[in-house]
Amino acid sequence: GKVAVLMGGSSAEREISLMSGSGVLAALRSQGVDAHEFDPSQRDLVELKREGFARAFIALHGRHGEDGTVQGALELLGIPYTGSGVMASAIAIDKVMTKRLWQAAGLPTPKYVALPRATQTRERIVQVPDELGLPLIVKPPHEGSSIGVTKVKGCSQMQDAVALAAKHDDVVLCEEFIEGDELTCPVLGEGDSARALPVIRIVAPEGAYDYQNKYFTDVTQYLVPSGLPEAEEREIQRIVVEAYRALGCRGWGRADLMVRASDRKPYLLEMNTSPGMTSHSLVPMSAKAAGMSYEQLCLHIAASAAL
Ligand code: DAL
Ligand code: MG
Repeated sequence: GKVAVLMGGSSAEREISLMSGSGVLAALRSQGVDAHEFDPSQRDLVELKREGFARAFIALHGRHGEDGTVQGALELLGIPYTGSGVMASAIAIDKVMTKRLWQAAGLPTPKYVALPRATQTRERIVQVPDELGLPLIVKPPHEGSSIGVTKVKGCSQMQDAVALAAKHDDVVLCEEFIEGDELTCPVLGEGDSARALPVIRIVAPEGAYDYQNKYFTDVTQYLVPSGLPEAEEREIQRIVVEAYRALGCRGWGRADLMVRASDRKPYLLEMNTSPGMTSHSLVPMSAKAAGMSYEQLCLHIAASAAL
């Protein structure tokens, strides 16, 4: 039946979603799938039902797309959709909630301080570097693609960093910086059948894997195979699959993590439940290393659509 590729949307990552969606749409069509673009910021999702779409491929990122809201609407409409369900999506979009669940499951994630709006006072903010050390990372817990993120190197930067993150979120997440390798690892499947794809090691210029270097420059190096020792790669994949299951994810996802240089200890940063599918994106790169083309990956994800 007809497949709607949900793309665009109204989040800060709209531009990225349009690139992801275009890639997915072209790939599905090239494989003979009757796929159509659908932008929920322009049209009501109810039209999916009226127009007889059999399923939805969610290529939206961020709020109102990756956060369980669109998933909930599709549940009500009875239209099977790709990726995680309502609860896992809603948890994974929030990096603080995600960390709480991972901590409860005994999974490693960097130390953090969450600052709700009422606690974003000068007095409280300047204490954070004492608790987490420097450098530290300040981010809006519901954004993606490094939007609103600052690597704070000195106490004097704290106020501005918190103010920037607070533009995007009520709560600001301050996180211990883990010095070491920046890694990402996709997962396909669900529950006991979830399996990790190859780990990618990201080498950005002077450690700045930011919005520009994620999508619009060619200065970031992506290593896959990762070059990590075999046992370390296996261990990372094991932790990532556990992290995926702990949140109740399904379909597909991608965990971002760091491995500390000093002791090679892994730290989970976040789970993306609707990862980028652009020409620079990581899930397609990892899938390719596992022998799965971009087209095969799209077909695989589309076929996993569920309610
Ligand atoms: N948030 C972007 C789309 C990603 O994780 O790939
Ligand atoms: Mg993300």
